[in-house]
Amino acid sequence: MAQDTTSTGQQYSKSTPYKLKGFRYLMSYHSRVCKLILEKTKQPYIYIDLNCGAGYQPDYRKFGDEDLGSPIIALQELNKEGIEPICHFCDASHKSLDILKKAIKELNLKCDPHYWPGENKDSLLRVSRDLANSQFNGLVYSDPNGKQDFPIKEIKKVFEFPQMRKVDLLMNVATTYVKRWESNPKVNWEVYSLEEIINGHGKEKIFVRNPENPSLKWTFIYATNWCKQKDLTAIKLYSIDTDLGKRILDHLFNPRSNPLPGIYDDGSVAIQGDLNLHIPSSNPGEENSHE
Ligand SMILES: C[S@@+](CC[C@H](N)C(=O)[O-])C[C@H]1O[C@@H](n2cnc3c(N)ncnc32)[C@H](O)[C@@H]1O
Repeated sequence: MAQDTTSTGQQYSKSTPYKLKGFRYLMSYHSRVCKLILEKTKQPYIYIDLNCGAGYQPDYRKFGDEDLGSPIIALQELNKEGIEPICHFCDASHKSLDILKKAIKELNLKCDPHYWPGENKDSLLRVSRDLANSQFNGLVYSDPNGKQDFPIKEIKKVFEFPQMRKVDLLMNVATTYVKRWESNPKVNWEVYSLEEIINGHGKEKIFVRNPENPSLKWTFIYATNWCKQKDLTAIKLYSIDTDLGKRILDHLFNPRSNPLPGIYDDGSVAIQGDLNLHIPSSNPGEENSHE
């Protein structure tokens, strides 16, 4: 898929606008629900963005989209409902965090911000050690560039804290990093198991978003302990307990269930289980090292 890189190193692909619009919708919904809860409980709202980026990306305009990223979108939607969250903004890029700091000030967004430069898995563990004793409402958002910055084990650990029981999780997941090649053990990728992605965080109710285009391999997984959470059909987010949710998961993660290879309008090819994508390794000893 064609990708551009912004001046702060964030990657922008065809799926970025769909992601950002879906994110704004979800944050708006989350803010409205949490407002009602917080009015009664007076609990704090915590927002942890594991890959916050700069928040303000003039380059996005160049690619034809709005110029705001997740941390600013989240704050705008929360502030609209009068919520002033405790925020933990994590990113490997100091430059991005500097831009974000300025953007939050200039846009006069209200929050208690904490900035964590460096590896997000380390930041997340440090954040979890410093959690106050209160019960939080809130959201952890993981929006990695790839598998290297997707700290699923640390996400699981942070949700083991009782204070985090009512904090939800949103992950933008690259399905290509999920193990789906049981039939072809020679593929040279390090991968996560589907089990780790879908259930590894320990939340009870899980939703998957139908990608805009079947060839896009990034999509949202949303997880919550609120059993009454309904599907968010406006952004095509469906419980994985429903037939539709199961079908989406199946399409995304289990190519063997897709009967035929297909070529989509944009020329990309739907990856199917029957295609032999094995590229022989120049070093035969390496071939099985990732399985
Ligand atoms: C896809 S971008 C995030 C976009 C952002 N959420 C938005 O909506 O604009 C991924 C971000 O993760 C950061 N990143 C990459 N590896 C990281 C790591 N190991 N720890 C923390 N941040 C990382 C990159 O610097 C980049 O800003």
